[in-house]
Amino acid sequence: MARRRQLYEGKAKILFEGPEPGTIVQYFKDDATAGNGAKSGVITGKGVLNNRISEHLMLRLQEIGIPTHFIRRINMREQLVKEVEIIPLEVVVRNIAAGSIAKRFGIEEGKRLPRSIVEFYYKNDALNDPLVSEDHIIAFGWACPHDLEEMTGLAMRVNDFLCGLFAGIGIQLVDFKLEFGRAWEGEDMRIVLADEISPDNCRLWDTQTNEKLDKDRFRRDMGSVKEAYQEVARRLGILLEEG
Ligand code: C5P
Repeated sequence: MARRRQLYEGKAKILFEGPEPGTIVQYFKDDATAGNGAKSGVITGKGVLNNRISEHLMLRLQEIGIPTHFIRRINMREQLVKEVEIIPLEVVVRNIAAGSIAKRFGIEEGKRLPRSIVEFYYKNDALNDPLVSEDHIIAFGWACPHDLEEMTGLAMRVNDFLCGLFAGIGIQLVDFKLEFGRAWEGEDMRIVLADEISPDNCRLWDTQTNEKLDKDRFRRDMGSVKEAYQEVARRLGILLEEG
């Protein structure tokens, strides 16, 4: 295949121009970073696993009517997605206290939250992705009230569905991060789920043992990172030989 024009290189993915107008190729790298690039490394095979896991989860979400950018997986490391205008927000949904919320409010890691919490962070590496309020989002024009309501509703639907899906394979969905984009069809705009859903941006704990099966193993130097991602893929029923 002819070499495609690179549009963007992020920490874990590269975006290339797609074969048809309005499409993009997402290439999943093995690179891992944490703490906004403070720690970096390579987890051999991670890109292959995340490509496959994200494909599986996006397809299951599409089946329940969640609009996503996902079109199809092309090969082991690439997937074809719709070109969208990324909304510069990270939408985090939390069910159990861990990571930054545990630290910020002094909550013991592992404590179930009284209800699921949706948070927004402004996507800006130079500012370390600060936590923002709905007022900040609207005042600074990152999203309008309608888009914000749409993203919150979709994030909660994704949470409900994924909590059930993971519970069925003995995994607790502690928290996760979503990104949304605006997909244009002529004059019409639709908010769609974009980016990826994988152990890179979810916290996944074994229900029986609380063993971490996600990127915290890399962030906290716990080892067996790839094996944890493989275990998630295995339980989802999609483990690849090459994974
Ligand atoms: O670090 P924090 O506790 O705020 O992370 C919440 C969730 O969002 C975690 O599942 C983490 O993997 C994800 N996240 C992410 N990308 C970021 C920040 C957090 O995927 N830049």
